[in-house]
Amino acid sequence: MKKFMFRFFFVLFTLTIIGIQYIEVERTNPPVKYDLKAPNEIKNIFKNACYDCHSFETKWPWYSKVAPVSWIIIGHVDEGRKHLNFSQWESLDSGKKEDLKKEIWEQLVNDGMPLKAYTYLHAGATLEVTQKNVLKKWLHSTRYLN
Ligand code: HEC
Repeated sequence: MKKFMFRFFFVLFTLTIIGIQYIEVERTNPPVKYDLKAPNEIKNIFKNACYDCHSFETKWPWYSKVAPVSWIIIGHVDEGRKHLNFSQWESLDSGKKEDLKKEIWEQLVNDGMPLKAYTYLHAGATLEVTQKNVLKKWLHSTRYLN
């Protein structure tokens, strides 16, 4: 009986994992029209550490195609884009840009971003102190200017 139950749940589990692969989810990358304009040095840091969740240029890894991991990743990207989207940056008015710059600043100071779940798999995305300083300098120097 025990063996039967084990097999039963094993088959059920396997079928569930296969079944959820057919649930439709969207991994979108809409056209980029208003990408952030900034010096290459700045853009490269953002692209390397933030663009996967905060732009329309997400590089979707293979495991983003496997449910249920895909749901978590798509959730992060959707949520991230809602808060801050570098692909729409140049369409924002100066007040909104200032607000976001302040929020980016806070994330840098508090080590809040990139999300830990992300740097766990993308070790190279963790911001080094020098990179943070470069970003801070840029955030500071561009305040109230655009
Ligand atoms: C793995 C996806 C991911 C990456 C990579 C990532 N973020 Fe985020 N970010 C999110 C999510 C999800 C939210 C919204 C929920 C939250 O605040 O935790 C967010 C929110 C933010 C916010 C708004 C915070 C607030 O209080 O509203 C800022 C600013 C931000 N991120 C900046 C960055 C910067 C700068 C980088 C790169 C250094 C970065 N993020 C990398 C997923 C990500």
